[in-house]
Amino acid sequence: MSIAVVPGSFDPVTYGHLDIIVRATKAFDYVIVAVLNNRAKNPMFTVEERMHFLQETTSSYSNVQVDSFDGLLVDYMKQKNANVIVKGLRAISDFEYELQMAAINRKLAPTIETFFMMTNHQFSFLSSSIVKEVARYNPDEVSDLVPPNVLKELKERFNVKEP
Ligand code: PNS
Repeated sequence: MSIAVVPGSFDPVTYGHLDIIVRATKAFDYVIVAVLNNRAKNPMFTVEERMHFLQETTSSYSNVQVDSFDGLLVDYMKQKNANVIVKGLRAISDFEYELQMAAINRKLAPTIETFFMMTNHQFSFLSSSIVKEVARYNPDEVSDLVPPNVLKELKERFNVKEP
């Protein structure tokens, strides 16, 4: 059985992430969306909140599980018997960092493969950081970039009153 892990900070999840997760559900038997529990990154949302957004938005996929991890990704994957890391590539600028990550992960765990998917072009500019930056000033501008549960929370965080 192929068990794929889609790792990330997901702070918060965007439609770009969801595109990769949904495509992974079709390519692999089982998909674990693994949220990095890293306080050093100073996330906007707690790991529980980030997992909750993901759980709500992936609940219709029977082969998706949302979990969190800390430490090395490959150690977490060994615990889960997972053999594939799935990453999205948005642009050439992602490539160098992702190449480095794939190389170190392969050195640490030679039997774990990293698979890359090209991000759907409509999300090629999208990142959680950009979403947070725009939402701070105008949350409605990100309504087509994040799922409704995330949009609602961003509006509350940035204290935007509904008309
Ligand atoms: O969404 P992000 O922040 O780009 O995700 C990065 C993530 C979580 C995939 C990456 O930071 C990661 O795998 N961290 C766990 C630590 C690890 O295994 N690092 C690689 C070897 S140094």
